Amino acid sequence: MSKKVQVQARINGEEVEFLCEPRQSLLEVLRDELGLTGSKEGCNNGNCGACNVIMDGVLVNSCLVLGVEIQGKEITTIEGLAGPEKLHPLQQKFLEYAALQCGICTPGFIVASKALLDKNPHPTEQEVRYWLAGNLCRCTGYDKIVRAVLAAAEVDHEGRR
Ligand code: FES
Ligand code: FES
Repeated sequence: MSKKVQVQARINGEEVEFLCEPRQSLLEVLRDELGLTGSKEGCNNGNCGACNVIMDGVLVNSCLVLGVEIQGKEITTIEGLAGPEKLHPLQQKFLEYAALQCGICTPGFIVASKALLDKNPHPTEQEVRYWLAGNLCRCTGYDKIVRAVLAAAEVDHEGRR
């Protein structure tokens, strides 16, 4: 076993310090070391988007990032979206539009959609579909997902964190 590395980062607004092996992916660190199991492992090779997190404002597949690479960075995971009192508008609209079935892909879709709305608060349907091309839902629930994202984009930004 290789020597563990000490890493400090800001995750969902909190300073976090952890030890990880140099080979561990960020997804493994989140799930196995930090107990943040919202990010899911679908393919573990960058194809499905189930593990999406936002790193310094950029959407990434956490299965393709090493845990040691987040030293000094800011990470947002699905656990960081809801406020203390209410869900993030994306989460609320996914519920209202029944935009989830098995739910494995859902955290990735929601995190990817947040990254889109942060960048482009009023996307067109085509922009939403294009942006979410890196997220796979094997239940093929895409239409409801797209409707939910467009509805969330209509919600006043004050409701967002
Ligand atoms: S688990 Fe990371 S892209 Fe599929
Ligand atoms: S809800 Fe089943 S894979 Fe997306």
